[in-house]
Amino acid sequence: MPGPTPCLRLLGAALSLAAALPCAAHAATDEAEPAAAAADTAALEARARTAIKTLGGQLVQELKAAIEAEGPVHAIDVCHTIAPRIADETSARQNLSVGRTSHKVRNPNNLPDEWETEVLDAFLAAAEAGTPIATLEKAAVVDGDDGRHFRYMKGIPTKPLCLNCHGADLTPEVQAAIDETYPQDRATGFAVGDLRGAFTVSIPLDAED
Ligand code: HEC
Repeated sequence: MPGPTPCLRLLGAALSLAAALPCAAHAATDEAEPAAAAADTAALEARARTAIKTLGGQLVQELKAAIEAEGPVHAIDVCHTIAPRIADETSARQNLSVGRTSHKVRNPNNLPDEWETEVLDAFLAAAEAGTPIATLEKAAVVDGDDGRHFRYMKGIPTKPLCLNCHGADLTPEVQAAIDETYPQDRATGFAVGDLRGAFTVSIPLDAED
């Protein structure tokens, strides 16, 4: 009988190599690891949610105050300067990165990266299938060029207040103010209940080990 095909021989080599590896050392920690990882993930998720609450809460407060005080045109200015500032301050204070992104951005600085694009697509599909937007969230550990990160996203629903600046029917003044500051704006035409975008958090894992 001829000997084993090259393919089978390779497989045999791989199996004996695996047997030679110190598997026993891993076996001891195999059971503890998922529990520890789950606890870590829960803590990271809690940090991400706290950051989102801080950012979201402050944004809505500033936005409402600005609209009440001087109307939506002025509030666009406020959003332009204040939204990135609150995001930066919250990120620095909570030692992570928190911001907002969308499948249709107003500010190109908020464009989604590859992972965020995938999550937004999944959120859109889920919303289309009837999942309430307020329940849309996604957590994952992602390996990137700049190391491993715990990443978390949470869907943002469009509310009546948002229509002033993200709806289908803007006043000419609001439209003009948006055109001036955001010539590449894609963030109009939303209706109440649509997915407007998502909060996004990234926590570096390597630096914390
Ligand atoms: C007064 C006008 C105004 C209102 C009202 C408003 N926004 Fe915005 N929104 C803006 C502006 C301006 C930006 C761009 C901010 C920047 O430059 O980072 C923006 C950006 C965003 C972004 C970040 C992604 C992007 O498109 O750049 C999200 C998400 C968002 N808005 C959601 C909302 C939601 C949800 C509401 C209602 C609760 C809302 N907005 C109400 C003006 C408004």
